[in-house]
Amino acid sequence: MLAGKHIILGICGGIAAYKSVYLLRLFVKAGAEVQVVITPAGKEFITPVTLSSLSGKPVISEFFTANTGSWNSHVDLGLWADAMVIAPATASTIGKMANGIADNMLVTTYLSAKAPVFIAPAMDLDMFAHPSTQRNLQLLREYGNHIIEPASGELASHLVGKGRMEEPENILKAVEEFFAQGQDLAGLKIMVTAGPTREKIDPVRYIGNYSSGKMGYAIAEECAVRGAEVTLISGPVSIKARHHRINVVYVESAQEMHDAAVSAFPGCDAAVMCAAVADYAVENYAAHKIKREHDEVPVIRLRKNPDIAAALGAMKRKGQLLVGFALETDNGVANATEKLHRKHLDFIVLNSPNEPGAGFMTDTNRVTIIDRDGASREYELKDKRLVARDIIDVMKEMME
Ligand code: PMT
Repeated sequence: MLAGKHIILGICGGIAAYKSVYLLRLFVKAGAEVQVVITPAGKEFITPVTLSSLSGKPVISEFFTANTGSWNSHVDLGLWADAMVIAPATASTIGKMANGIADNMLVTTYLSAKAPVFIAPAMDLDMFAHPSTQRNLQLLREYGNHIIEPASGELASHLVGKGRMEEPENILKAVEEFFAQGQDLAGLKIMVTAGPTREKIDPVRYIGNYSSGKMGYAIAEECAVRGAEVTLISGPVSIKARHHRINVVYVESAQEMHDAAVSAFPGCDAAVMCAAVADYAVENYAAHKIKREHDEVPVIRLRKNPDIAAALGAMKRKGQLLVGFALETDNGVANATEKLHRKHLDFIVLNSPNEPGAGFMTDTNRVTIIDRDGASREYELKDKRLVARDIIDVMKEMME
């Protein structure tokens, strides 16, 4: 599974650093090429000599190599990697990663990495349970990183609780499982739209919606991991695409998303329209901030935005597959089916903003997939990454 894969192994300063040696051996045995990046504190726990002997590469810790003065490029490293695994990840490094404090080579490389990132925390139980650590881990989860939960057991302090770094075999398994999905989309070009759009009212206000981008980004990541080249057209979101095969085109308004999608679609084999697009734009945009002091309450006039999915449906050529979403509060199946046919989609993914754990912002979703023959498949509530897998499995099935 990992043969030929490029893995950055990030090691922080914690007693569990000794386990990273085993993890490094496991990665190398699995056929991966491993570049170790260690924090200055990490070197207090494990020597670079041990690590470089096992990886066959000099260990990177500083921005510059002392004897030659040559620069270690975190950008190149970030692009080189198929995965970055930070094990052990200390509370301090987790905090820096969550808040973008790039004061060492490991965090700088993390911020430049486009590949999926796996984080295996290791620390004392009270540090792990502290609200700031939990908040930082939640932030990292929201940014799309994979957190490999620590186990419970005896800790370096001799206290017993949650904070032991997961065993190297299980970390290897988590990374292998991620890649196990195969490369069944290799050679395909897929476009995904994600997130909300914003329609400006004046220079400081806009009409928007609650889309976080999580569903669309999960779909883009699923496609990239399975080997596709992905163009992700994204509205403004706070999460980051984590794969080097994802090319993100950032847009703001529905018109900008339309223009980007219409230009990318002809070169694609398939498109998944997951963005929550504003149906209306503001016709009377105010070039200056609207003042509260006016006697009259301002009137915002709206005009229809282009329907992006329908535009792509009209230009779709034979062999291209177009997938839409339907976010419905009532009459879900009937409304979704109407959209499926009107927009010339190949299938539509129905979800509801009213259902707990589904729709906007949540990490989970519950969807029903409806195809042009009226056949529907209902799925249970699950993580958006797994929902993405179900959708892409159906897409792949239809392409065969
Ligand atoms: O981003 P998250 O927080 O993870 O939330 C995910 C989600 C709820 C946004 C997502 O699962 C979802 O349902 N996306 C579609 C939302 C939507 O706009 O649905 P709709 O029923 O209004 O639109 C139907 C389809 O037409 C969609 O594929 C939409 O992208 C597309 N559309 C809509 C309007 C428009 N002007 N152009 C479009 O292309």
